[in-house]
Amino acid sequence: MSDLQAAAKRAVGKHVASLVSSGMTLGIGTGSTAAMAIEALGARVRDEGLDVCGVATSFAAERMAREHGIRLTTLDQSPKLDLAFDGADEVDPDFTLIKGRGAAQTREKIVAAQASQFVVLVDESKMVDQLGFRMPLPIEVVPMAVTPVMNVLKALGAVPDLRMGMKKDGPVVSDQGMWIVDAMFDGISNPEHVNRVLLMTPGVVDHGLFLDMATMVLVGRSDGHVQVLEKG
Ligand code: A5P
Repeated sequence: MSDLQAAAKRAVGKHVASLVSSGMTLGIGTGSTAAMAIEALGARVRDEGLDVCGVATSFAAERMAREHGIRLTTLDQSPKLDLAFDGADEVDPDFTLIKGRGAAQTREKIVAAQASQFVVLVDESKMVDQLGFRMPLPIEVVPMAVTPVMNVLKALGAVPDLRMGMKKDGPVVSDQGMWIVDAMFDGISNPEHVNRVLLMTPGVVDHGLFLDMATMVLVGRSDGHVQVLEKG
């Protein structure tokens, strides 16, 4: 990550932390941008005694929240969240997202769905006119179904690729013990159709298209300015 990108991510992290008040229950996102928000929130907990708790979207987010002194809860204890924050890989003008570069999209979607406000944190490079030209769509798959699911993706016009581990031989295994298939589309012109087909495919746990979920997008600029976009 360049210094300028880090500055943009830090700016949105700080901004979302400033939207939080004591008593709130949060959804805690995964990835390098959400990490900046966790850090900024942790600073408020430490310096101001901000009293919040959160549901983490991954083992990584859970560990990081704990390191920064943010109390954790579960959806069993706190099924309704006031605000969830998370990064994204791409955001289109309708606030439809591609998420899942870090393989956390299934839990991220579960958590975001329980939140009254879902705030998406990005730098300007993530804003696109149409999803799926640059970033693949990650799909979480039950291992035995990987070939049939890849065939469905091919029929949708995508080129599927099983995500392989780094510093580990074999496929990436998600926090749920599943595999991740990255599907490269030549642009996703109909996200609703792709969503419907994938959710009807046996063996698909969930995928990284987030439709009608984001309520606010914070776009960080490299000069530290934050653009606030709200669903009209
Ligand atoms: C995690 O699986 C992802 O959905 C991330 O939230 C997303 O990839 C954004 O990550 P960065 O903030 O690191 O770009």
